[in-house]
Amino acid sequence: MYQCSRRKMLGLVGGIVAGGAIAGLAGPAWAATTGTKSGATALYPKTFKSLMAAVAFEVQANANYLAFADAADKDGHREIAAIFRAIAAAELKHANDEFAIAQSLISSAVKPKAEKAALAGSTAANLQAAIAGETEEYTKIYPGFVKIAQAERMRTALGIFTIAKLAEEVHAGIYADLLKHIDKFDREKYAKVYRCPVCGNIVPTVRPMACPICGDEGEDLIEYTIVG
Ligand SMILES: [Fe+2]
Ligand SMILES: [Fe+2]
Repeated sequence: MYQCSRRKMLGLVGGIVAGGAIAGLAGPAWAATTGTKSGATALYPKTFKSLMAAVAFEVQANANYLAFADAADKDGHREIAAIFRAIAAAELKHANDEFAIAQSLISSAVKPKAEKAALAGSTAANLQAAIAGETEEYTKIYPGFVKIAQAERMRTALGIFTIAKLAEEVHAGIYADLLKHIDKFDREKYAKVYRCPVCGNIVPTVRPMACPICGDEGEDLIEYTIVG
């Protein structure tokens, strides 16, 4: 799951960070996000709506995971609680990045309407809910938003939607792994996890040389001690 093509990913982050070529989307016709703010909103109407919807999804995921973490602590799954908190921070980063891009398109701040957090059930049920949510995000929601940003040629939104999609797929895989081994937590594999501050990727076990999704320097990743 973490063995993404390094070359492909480094190319991707180049596109996101430097505004350079994202596979198949390079070219002078790509519109910049500058200009009059109302004009920018008019230029990317569907991308703007997608950004605000993505903020709401990510804020909700953050709230859900924090509630699930508290419930896991009460269930005696302290390590799973710690991983829920690490991934909650990754979702908040996605929300902040998406909101910042949306704000750059409008003249006044818009507050996203976050939905109510899901009621936390058992840790197994919460992991199931987390898997379902992440899977919907990486298989349906973000691929749809990617297409919209491509169609409107909105490069910065395309960047965050693309890396968020990849990070959500990793999150889904981790939750599925935790659920599979809920009766015997893998203390070695998840002794530590590393969260990429750029893309929200989560890498278990050892600090990578570089983030497998966005190519950020390994030393930038934030370490979480899960098994103390
Ligand atoms: Fe996620
Ligand atoms: Fe990353």
